[in-house]
Amino acid sequence: MSGSNVLLTGATGGIGAALAARLTAQGARLTVTGRQEAALKAAAESCGARTVVADLAVRSDVVRLAESCTESDVLVANAALPASGDLLDYTEEQLDRALDVNLRAPVLLSRLLAEHMVARGRGHIVLVGSISGKAATRSTSLYNATKFGLRGFALALRQELRGTGVGVSLVQPGFVRDAGMFAATGAATPNGIRTVTPGQVAEGVVRAVRRDLCEVNVAPLELRLLSAVAGQFPGFAERIQARTDIDGSVRQIVDAQRSRR
Ligand SMILES: NC(=O)c1ccc[n+]([C@@H]2O[C@H](COP(=O)([O-])OP(=O)(O)OC[C@H]3O[C@@H](n4cnc5c(N)ncnc54)[C@H](OP(=O)(O)O)[C@@H]3O)[C@@H](O)[C@H]2O)c1
Repeated sequence: MSGSNVLLTGATGGIGAALAARLTAQGARLTVTGRQEAALKAAAESCGARTVVADLAVRSDVVRLAESCTESDVLVANAALPASGDLLDYTEEQLDRALDVNLRAPVLLSRLLAEHMVARGRGHIVLVGSISGKAATRSTSLYNATKFGLRGFALALRQELRGTGVGVSLVQPGFVRDAGMFAATGAATPNGIRTVTPGQVAEGVVRAVRRDLCEVNVAPLELRLLSAVAGQFPGFAERIQARTDIDGSVRQIVDAQRSRR
């Protein structure tokens, strides 16, 4: 990581801030990106990063971002929208934005940057997914779609790039406390599931790159077990979820994130 050029998306977010600090401490030369120029500049100041303002829902912005970062040794594709709530509550425009930011942008950035990494014979792509890429839950169909998609993409791309010197890792956090899209809702986790910190997620990303790990799940044991079972037996998981009373916390999360669609 030391001396590497790293492109970090979603740097103004809760996990992004921890990632920027952790990567800088490792000696990385950061380029940070997000939509809001002022917030981005503030985020960049503390770590001496270069900034590129880009809206990942705008296709030409994604290409412009990649073209300005062809020297990247590492891509950390971290930006995402919460995309929570029932599908029937989404307009076509909101639905496209969720798919574009959470799935299309990381796929296209990987495509455009991997080309240069492969030519240099070295590099690493980290895709920040979620435990929601392993287990489906109610009122998260769009978020599940993007994170399941990202998981399939990451695992397959890793195989495609095997032998090129370019690694691909998927880092999947559970519920994150203190900062980020879940913490901002103020909701309790369903069934009292334990949380992790943004720093633990950042540590997971650094570990994934250093050891070229395929998949890193940054979540407490109970969530890792539940998601493994749900991934293997979705019908069983659906029946269990139908019996648990999680409507209150799900509603609070969806209501708090509604304005971000
Ligand atoms: N927090 C959790 O509990 C949790 C759990 C599992 C997985 N994750 C994953 O971790 C990653 C980071 O999440 P977080 O909690 O840090 O989220 P967050 O605090 O909501 O930050 C999201 C980041 O994405 C950027 N972003 C959103 N829309 C964008 C767009 N159209 N163009 C460019 N950038 C955009 C935001 O920047 P601007 O608003 O400045 O554009 C912001 O920097 C995400 O992939 C998320 O799915 C989070």
